[in-house]
Amino acid sequence: IGEVHDVQELQRACVDNVPERYVREGDDRPGGANVCEQAHIPVIDLGELRRGGGDELGRLRLACEDWGFFQVVNHGIEGELLDEMEKVAREFFALPLEEKQRYPMAPGGIQGYGHAFVFSDDQKLDWCNMLALGVSPPSIRQPALWPTTPAAFTDTLVRYSAKVRELCVVLLARVAETLGLPSGTFEGMFGGEAAVQAVRMNFYPPCPRPELVLGLSAHSDGSAVTVLQQDAGRVGLQVRRGDAWVPVHPVPHALVINLGDSLEVLTNGRYKSVEHRAVTNGEQDRLSVVTFYAPAYDVEMGPLPELVADGEPCRYRRFNHGEYSRHYVTSKLEGKKTLDFAK
Ligand code: SIN
Ligand code: FE2
Repeated sequence: IGEVHDVQELQRACVDNVPERYVREGDDRPGGANVCEQAHIPVIDLGELRRGGGDELGRLRLACEDWGFFQVVNHGIEGELLDEMEKVAREFFALPLEEKQRYPMAPGGIQGYGHAFVFSDDQKLDWCNMLALGVSPPSIRQPALWPTTPAAFTDTLVRYSAKVRELCVVLLARVAETLGLPSGTFEGMFGGEAAVQAVRMNFYPPCPRPELVLGLSAHSDGSAVTVLQQDAGRVGLQVRRGDAWVPVHPVPHALVINLGDSLEVLTNGRYKSVEHRAVTNGEQDRLSVVTFYAPAYDVEMGPLPELVADGEPCRYRRFNHGEYSRHYVTSKLEGKKTLDFAK
């Protein structure tokens, strides 16, 4: 496939237009389908959940069943660490192109700096630069792709990832409880140390024609659970709700959580992975730091028997999680299409 341009360089070079390959049509345009400003994804207080107060577990169940997306506050990760992570990520994207290209994402690859999910010349492109890194298990880490500038990058990402992983474990324990399962159900089957954790930083420079392009195509995540950090005050993420898109207004120092395809399969569709996309902005750039947490590659996937009620069909087949991951990363982002693999 032909060269995919770096969008920060495009933004610097072109004054008031975007190349054809970024121009979307119809419902795919940011204003093409209904954008619902009235609705808001739920906010879950993890402190309250830890104390067992109120009906926070009931609110979590509803958030999973009804939205598949929520923000968490009192999540146990210090604001200072979130700020440090944002700082080193921003410093990386601000480097000259040649510097960033020392960590190149191979064509069709998934780790490094560049554009994932581009497989053909006629495919529409996203107004986004990415840095994607495998974090654990150690066998997926490619240290040569971890930036050495800024100097604090690796140390910050390692500390950040350890805390985010703890959060994922806690979240999955609570999610299991909302399903009436023992709290250790998911952690037990995900393979402990072998569970997969990866991070992707998305940088969206300002776009001269935000009404025509997408920052990131609509998709669901392949993970079990995803933890997304975004800048305060910058709206770009939109979540599908029926025929409409609901913008996510960041609560300062909250994290956005969404359920992925793996959890949809395990729960036999009781909880769904929800489509989302990112739109751009004419004035401001935007950064998101996204952590994917998923079962180990050798885990056998399929609906948990406890969650297939008598007489209910089993909606997904059994398959190897590693095969699903490979399928996911070699498919373009296109709604929930990748989940057809599991049917
Ligand atoms: C993503 O879905 O990976 C990122 C969306 C965002 O930038 O908010
Ligand atoms: Fe996503």
